[in-house]
Amino acid sequence: QTLVNKGKIHLFRNLLKSTPSSCKCLLVRKHSDGAQRFVSFDEVVAQRRAEARRSIVVQVNSEASFNELYGYCSKYATIAGVHHYKNTGGEHFMLIEFSSEDNLKEIIKSCSTHQKDLDVMALNSPFLWFRAASGKKEVFKTPSMTLSSMDGCSMVDEDELFQELLKCDTVSDQIQLLYDRTKLNDLGIRLRYMVARQVECVFESLYANIAVRPFGSSVNGFGKMGCDLDLVLTNTLTEEMWNELYHANVRRAQVKQKMKSKSKHNHSVSRLGPLDESSAHKRLVFQDKRCEGGRSPRQRHMESVAELLELRVPGAARLQRILHARVPIVKFAHDYTDLDCDLCYNNMSGVHMSSLLWSLGGLDARVRPLTFAVRRWAQAAALTNPHPGRWITNFPLTLMVLFFLQNTPGGCVLPTVKTLVQRAGKEDVRIAEENLNCTFLRDMNKLPPECYSQNKANLQTLLLQFFEFYSQFNFQDKAISINEGTAIRKPNSLPLYVVNPLEQALNVSRNVSYEECERLKLEVRNAAWQLEAGLEGQKNDDWGVLGLVERKTTRGLKKLLRVGNSHRLVSVKDLFNDTEESVSKETLKNKLE
Ligand code: GTP
Ligand code: MG
Repeated sequence: QTLVNKGKIHLFRNLLKSTPSSCKCLLVRKHSDGAQRFVSFDEVVAQRRAEARRSIVVQVNSEASFNELYGYCSKYATIAGVHHYKNTGGEHFMLIEFSSEDNLKEIIKSCSTHQKDLDVMALNSPFLWFRAASGKKEVFKTPSMTLSSMDGCSMVDEDELFQELLKCDTVSDQIQLLYDRTKLNDLGIRLRYMVARQVECVFESLYANIAVRPFGSSVNGFGKMGCDLDLVLTNTLTEEMWNELYHANVRRAQVKQKMKSKSKHNHSVSRLGPLDESSAHKRLVFQDKRCEGGRSPRQRHMESVAELLELRVPGAARLQRILHARVPIVKFAHDYTDLDCDLCYNNMSGVHMSSLLWSLGGLDARVRPLTFAVRRWAQAAALTNPHPGRWITNFPLTLMVLFFLQNTPGGCVLPTVKTLVQRAGKEDVRIAEENLNCTFLRDMNKLPPECYSQNKANLQTLLLQFFEFYSQFNFQDKAISINEGTAIRKPNSLPLYVVNPLEQALNVSRNVSYEECERLKLEVRNAAWQLEAGLEGQKNDDWGVLGLVERKTTRGLKKLLRVGNSHRLVSVKDLFNDTEESVSKETLKNKLE
């Protein structure tokens, strides 16, 4: 706070980088003048990756192992924090964060391997287990810190959540509570970075300049407990190379421009300066191997990646290879952390997309809670589905919420991506694979306050307005573009068109069928009606958002019939997978009985 008050933001940022995230919430994001300070995606990622590099996850017998494990590890290194969790298999784990990466190296040096079985080869990774002491038990002093025990992987107890929602005073409180109780917690985020680090450890020894980065909802601020872990294996030099290439082109263009204007004025022409920091000036280069043969090199790399995960990564199980997709992926379950992981290769645009969503989600405190409520409603209405198919997924749904927040009555809550692109500086230039320009403003502190949070409505109003907005949206002719912030003409006749913000020629909802789009239109109308109707009268057991986020059960259907909403039965029909065009009240009654 003192640093911020003195205007020494750079020192504050350095401090932020080296602070364990458990203390981070104490580093208030408010400037002394009361203005909010935004932490950029790059800062958070750098801090989380550093945190993972000085942490280990140790399998233990139970919470009671804390004293012994703490005492044992303290002999080698200084401990910054210990978090305990249980996976669904009932196994106990402790995530230990040390004060520095050097500390962690001391610990890793002290590790042993299972000596009995010669067919098993251990991996030098941060996932370990704590063997029972042989011989006389050492006595350790009581730890100087307490054990933090929380759910790192399991989801929230639904019954408890519904009881809490029932007790809220307002719908806005319900939406906020839903967010606070279901969002990914600190341990959930740490574990995701630990899995990324573990996979990175395997590939570090095989590839030069490799990084494994989480992207998607695990890091973009829209993740809920239990969400999947999207990982990307990237070559850091390739990233650098694309960026350098861009800067070199810009410089060349500038010099050309200069030369033109100078020759006009008959002056001597200056020569193009050297590209000092460019990798082209690094004289020693690794010998490399071109992947030859008919099949795509990317697919072949992914095959070997899958093989290695299967053979070498403890905890990785149930692998699936999806190698013929546009972006080949390897799916696996990570048993120690209960995470479902998707690993792809050289897809930095996914990381830049996460950065964009992180920035927009952090600009206004209402963005994430509102998105959570919408995602939850879509799940309850069976509009989204964990399996891939012809339905909408969470990602385009999130873009739909952001688009609505650019169009709120009485002023926008969020700026357009176009604004962020216009305000980008040199430091924001990012070029992803295939020369994809992912340049936009990263530091939201540079965005003028009039560009966002102009509308001051509460969450209840925003949720209702969201449903009303899409009840009236012209899906037939218009596409949703968060780049423009206004509905644009659809370039083709696909039923739902949500423009990919980083590749505007692409539609991120191209998989959505006509029927699913019709269902979406119908369900937003239903939701608007249900929310509005629920605001009047008594608070019953499905008041406010409860009726929207609860899975539709026969109890819910009976209620619909009771209040005589036969016009809504078309969506009810879908719950029964009925093939008839319409279902009468009578048929439905029979089915319910
Ligand atoms: P959940 O996993 O459902 O919580 O949300 P998510 O945002 O992680 O979505 P998902 O796992 O489906 O995708 C991971 C990331 O990949 C997204 O956040 C996007 O950045 C990116 N992504 C998803 N779908 C598309 C798509 O159709 N096109 C492009 N270019 N990127 C996509
Ligand atoms: Mg995901």
